Amino acid sequence: IPVDPFDLVIFGGTGDLAKRKILPGLYRRFLAGQIPSDSAIIGAARADMDDAGFRDLARAAIVEFVAADRIDDTVLAAFIERLSYVSIDAQGSGGWSALKKKMRKNTVRAFYFSVAPSLFGDLAERLHGHGIADEDSRIVVEKPFGRDLASARELNAVLARHFAEGQIYRIDHYLGKETVQNLMAVRFANILFEPLWKSEYVDHVQITVAETVGVDGRGAYYDKSGAMRDMVQNHMMQLLCLIAMEPPYHFDPDAVRDEKLKVIRALDPVLPEDIVRGQYLAGSGQGGYRDHAGDAASRTESYIALKVNISNWRWKGTPFYLRTGKRLRARTSEIAITFREPPHSIFDDAEGWRENVLVIRLQPNEGMNLMVMIKEPGPGGMRLTQVPLDMSFATVLGEEGEDIPDAYERLIMDVIRGNQTLFMRGDEVEAAWAWTDPIIEGWEKRGDRPRGYDPGSSGPEDALMLMHRDGRRWREIR
Ligand code: BG6
Repeated sequence: IPVDPFDLVIFGGTGDLAKRKILPGLYRRFLAGQIPSDSAIIGAARADMDDAGFRDLARAAIVEFVAADRIDDTVLAAFIERLSYVSIDAQGSGGWSALKKKMRKNTVRAFYFSVAPSLFGDLAERLHGHGIADEDSRIVVEKPFGRDLASARELNAVLARHFAEGQIYRIDHYLGKETVQNLMAVRFANILFEPLWKSEYVDHVQITVAETVGVDGRGAYYDKSGAMRDMVQNHMMQLLCLIAMEPPYHFDPDAVRDEKLKVIRALDPVLPEDIVRGQYLAGSGQGGYRDHAGDAASRTESYIALKVNISNWRWKGTPFYLRTGKRLRARTSEIAITFREPPHSIFDDAEGWRENVLVIRLQPNEGMNLMVMIKEPGPGGMRLTQVPLDMSFATVLGEEGEDIPDAYERLIMDVIRGNQTLFMRGDEVEAAWAWTDPIIEGWEKRGDRPRGYDPGSSGPEDALMLMHRDGRRWREIR
């Protein structure tokens, strides 16, 4: 379904995110017929460039980052025609009247702040000062949204000076992933799971986001952040919220975000013994974390595992184990919900018994897998075995499942439609930092050092203990 025609200004339009995600995403939506041709997409950045230069940059980025079988030369040419460029001084006056002239006066106006957060205030002020934005305009901001509670509050306050909460779209691209949204459909459109979705029946939950890439090339940024700030405070927190939240009364932005906020507020502080941090070592001809960070004494973690408890009626007694890291064995993200033992076993075959596990695969090979017990086929008596009810979206949904839109495509279209459900509200971000800050302060005060782990492994050995201690084990990363 096409969206209304819009004017979209991408501040930081020549940057990495614009090239990798925003422009390719917009092209794919244009290809899908979702973007009306009287829309305007305007790149704005410091670089001195004309429309033709920006169009060349965009074309090259699309060819590089969109699959070759999705490149249609005629459609690409028509898309490129929608693009123009303004060289702008975010902190001065240069370029603003030119920008105003380039806007097509579509009613839907969105401004993507793909720039350093320190410029948010300057941009917001000038957009209003030059009469380019009004009370219907939308702004899009990216993580990192602050590096602690104080800075997140400050950013919220800066934006609130010029924009109402209903105009601010804070992106967490995990919320745009197809399977992440599917989590809500699975939970709330089926009667099957929800009655079991509580500590009485769920033994524990594991959330894994494993990556094979290191931080080479972005070590300077990453070293000031670390896995806790880069992945846990935002992406993993969002996954945890979608698993743990109460059913919202309606699939509506504030109803959903109210429920997520309640989960974050119910998180217990994390004990030092429930945290394992790691740094990848050098290996396979590649440098280690400290080489990439450019600091031989860095204590920033490229891996973290945590045991998180939620103090509410539904989840008390069901720990959530979270882990994420760089340079691990495989790129895989999944959520695994492990159910408890049946109250009584009528079978003698205790050995064959395994817990039911519902695995939701976020990437790659998006899908779901429910591990169930059955009788082992054959005449050997009542022996038990576990089999997967395996649903790969690519298989059950055919082509549609194979061509799952990128998170950014979905989210940018939601901005244009004015739907904030998949964006973080200011209070949510602040609550997430309020939980994160003491954890980081704790290890800084104690002077904890991250453990080294081999590249291509599953992370530091100590992380195994985090679960062994509780009589549980991590699922294999593969
Ligand atoms: C980003 C982090 O937000 O998410 C990166 O800054 C990380 O460090 C990336 O690699 C992971 O995203 P995805 O979509 O590849 O799982």
